[in-house]
Amino acid sequence: MATAQTIGKKIEKLREEIRRHEELYYVKDTPEISDAEYDKLIEQLKKLEEEQPQLITPDSPTQRVGGRPAEGFPEVVHRRPMLSLDNSYNIEELMAFDQRCQKLAEGRALEYVAELKIDGVSISLQYDNQLLARGVTRGDGRIGEEVTQNARTIRSVPLRLRASGDSVGRDVEVRGEVFIPRSVFENTNAEREEQGEPRFANPRNAAAGTLRQLDSRIVASRRLDLFAYDLIAGERKPFATQWAALNWLEQAGFRVNPHRELCPSIEEVVEFCKRMETQRDDLDYEIDGLVVKVNSTRLQDEFGATQKAPRWAAAYKYPARQATTKVLAITVQIGRTGALTPVANLEPVLLAGTTVSRATLHNADEIERLGVRIGDWVLIEKGGEVIPKVLKVIESKRTGAEKRFRMPRKCPVCGGEIFRLDGEVVARCVAADCGAQLRGRLLHFASRRAMRIEGLGESLVDQMVEKKMLRDAGDLYKLTLGEISGLERMAKKSAQNLLAQIERSKSRDLSHLIYALGIRHVGDRTAAILANYFGSLETLAEASETALDDIPEVGLTVAQSVRGWFDDAGNLDLCWRLRAAGVRTKIDEKEKAAVDERFAGKQFVLTGTLPGYSREEARALIESRGGRVTTSVSKKTDYVIAGAEAGSKLDKATTLGVTVLDEAAFKGMLR
Ligand code: IVH
Repeated sequence: MATAQTIGKKIEKLREEIRRHEELYYVKDTPEISDAEYDKLIEQLKKLEEEQPQLITPDSPTQRVGGRPAEGFPEVVHRRPMLSLDNSYNIEELMAFDQRCQKLAEGRALEYVAELKIDGVSISLQYDNQLLARGVTRGDGRIGEEVTQNARTIRSVPLRLRASGDSVGRDVEVRGEVFIPRSVFENTNAEREEQGEPRFANPRNAAAGTLRQLDSRIVASRRLDLFAYDLIAGERKPFATQWAALNWLEQAGFRVNPHRELCPSIEEVVEFCKRMETQRDDLDYEIDGLVVKVNSTRLQDEFGATQKAPRWAAAYKYPARQATTKVLAITVQIGRTGALTPVANLEPVLLAGTTVSRATLHNADEIERLGVRIGDWVLIEKGGEVIPKVLKVIESKRTGAEKRFRMPRKCPVCGGEIFRLDGEVVARCVAADCGAQLRGRLLHFASRRAMRIEGLGESLVDQMVEKKMLRDAGDLYKLTLGEISGLERMAKKSAQNLLAQIERSKSRDLSHLIYALGIRHVGDRTAAILANYFGSLETLAEASETALDDIPEVGLTVAQSVRGWFDDAGNLDLCWRLRAAGVRTKIDEKEKAAVDERFAGKQFVLTGTLPGYSREEARALIESRGGRVTTSVSKKTDYVIAGAEAGSKLDKATTLGVTVLDEAAFKGMLR
């Protein structure tokens, strides 16, 4: 029998291993194992800890996901106030900041550190004896709220600092910005909408709202992230420079933003500001500018602070990416779940380099809230989401000729009934045979991240739906050459190609199939978790709600949605017809191993614009071949794929001697 001592050793070993993988995944962005393998390690650890509960320590990786909801947050007085920053809105103001600093420095040399200003919420993390003891929100700067349990759910917050010598001491305070990645933000809003909750206006509100959530299980499901930017030991800053502090933070296990620069003068700061502005859209998080800090902490102390902000730092804010334009019409789109999305069709306007002619209005409540009418002038903004949104109506420009908009009572496509469930903000067409829904489901099924049936685009799907050739995606596999070549603009050759694509899709991975089914709340990440966990569509179809809910990373909403989907006879029938048609419904280890060797296990970084591929496409192509895409260039990067206007990533690749491919070379590699 295993003694408590040997179990204790095992537990410690497992924890070490899990911590290493957490850091690789969340901090370094270079994971070595799959999410499912990580989950398995956590499960093993949980089991062992259940056997020996006295060995559970607060820094064990199992202690991230919290227990019961808190009743409210206790207030905590910050040891050092969390100040705000003075803003500069243009280069002249930035120069004036430099002038003020030069004066205070009285001839001594000045260096600056330029960092990104992450648009999230700041947090103070206190470590006692290297263990995370407290997480406190900024609050009013003097008093914040203790949100330790929530801070623990952030995987890039180390529960224990990595030991390092130590000049710093064991009791430190780390400050940083909590944020929600753009990709997670979009999912969060979609989820909230379905649950009848209002959308978060932007990623910052989403981060703030989530951090102050009383139920830390919800916090854990939202995947907050953190960039650390400040280090305090007791009352003082332990390093001579901000630059050294940032590097120490990285060593200690924090995620520190890689886009930072040590600038010998304000001119380099200005350069960096300009460069980062062009790269803003490439980041998976929102920034609203840059923060410029005097590098020497001694000078920082000397310069001091006003009531509100330090004299040694300034924010350089990027101009908001907004424009005004006219709403020409409001149309309604029907998604694959039947959801009605009103869209404002706009007079085309240039916004941050692209011409915008549509903005989403999300739902009827949002139209009501904005009070927007057809013919109105509106302020639009390009923010965290792909499609710009309407911020407000410019009422002073009203002429009286504007028309109110009403959501349709019947589906504009199939004429079916529209329902809006109690508590839901989304109205849906519930007709089982709605062509618009079928269209959406087929396009989703064929999309790149799903079954990747290339050539099955909108115009073909429209024709197939119109001609009632298909009932659901299962019928795709019954299409004949004759039927396809009978469609408009379909030469025999293209019809053959499409058939070949459909045939090829039969051997897609199980995770892609599960994603392709279009189950609500099951994105590609969840699909991969389900595929790895259940191993086959048949097993997944039989899984109980409890079994689903028990999977780490799968919440109750997802569990209910999956169970509900398979409880529908029509859906189940679709599954079995797909199987009968020869679509692979099991995880196939052999095929999993047989990924493209040029891609498998290799790390890619994408930078600049590739005319032939969107970011998403390029990423999907790499990942489907077993490669990984990361955001920053390091020694571990195997390839940098550089498009037009590639910036600092390309420079870094050249410095590090990483292979750089242009679009043509990338295409060749894909072939
Ligand atoms: S330094 C006294 N560094 O911006 C120093 N702040 O407008 C203030 N922020 O409350 C913090 N990224 O929430 C600093 N790299 C960065 C930052 C950053 C985002 C936020 C922070 C602060 C606000 C001030």
